[in-house]
Amino acid sequence: MAKAAADGAEKAGAQTRLRRVPELAPQEAVESNEDWAKHLDRVADEVEEVSLDDLEWADAVLFGTPTRFGNVAAQLKQFMDTTGGLWQAGKLTNKVFGGFVTTGTEHGGHESTLLALFNSIYHWGGIVVTPGYTEEDQFVQGNPYGGSHTSQNGEVPPDEKALGSTALTARRVVDVARALKRADA
Ligand SMILES: Cc1cc2nc3c(=O)[nH]c(=O)nc-3n(C[C@H](O)[C@H](O)[C@H](O)COP(=O)(O)O)c2cc1C
Repeated sequence: MAKAAADGAEKAGAQTRLRRVPELAPQEAVESNEDWAKHLDRVADEVEEVSLDDLEWADAVLFGTPTRFGNVAAQLKQFMDTTGGLWQAGKLTNKVFGGFVTTGTEHGGHESTLLALFNSIYHWGGIVVTPGYTEEDQFVQGNPYGGSHTSQNGEVPPDEKALGSTALTARRVVDVARALKRADA
């Protein structure tokens, strides 16, 4: 889904940086789940870890998270909680943000997780952009708050609906960021 977000943003004319937040879970927890361990191995080679410089560099940011009891994953929240310096220096003001989410089960917390994600952004003075019901596909996908997917507890990979809604969110985020930059210039 992060790749779909990056593709969507690039198609809308943006330069992108695909990043991951550091894993905080203990090694034994990771190793107890084969898919988790494999995923971490793969992304360790493929995807650079995020830094605050990435956040400062970007005019627009899409955050993705699995739900954790209807909330943002602690790993992403921890990164967001390191942004105090940027926020105080006004570096997050008027940046444009969007989000995407996965759950294990239907109605497992897509909307509450995205709304929880947006709380920090409101406090930064960021601008939250959603896919809304702006395109026909959104009436099928059904989540106007951001890209989203239900994995059926790890059984189903992100499908066209999930990838499409994530790409749409990214395009809209980029379009709004571009319009703001133009207005500023
Ligand atoms: C601590 C914890 C809490 C979770 N809470 C929920 C939940 O409330 N609802 C849900 O649908 N899935 C929940 N999940 C499942 C994850 O959201 C799921 O792992 C995530 O969407 C990634 O998809 P996958 O691991 O099934 O491929 C939870 C997972 C963990 C580890």
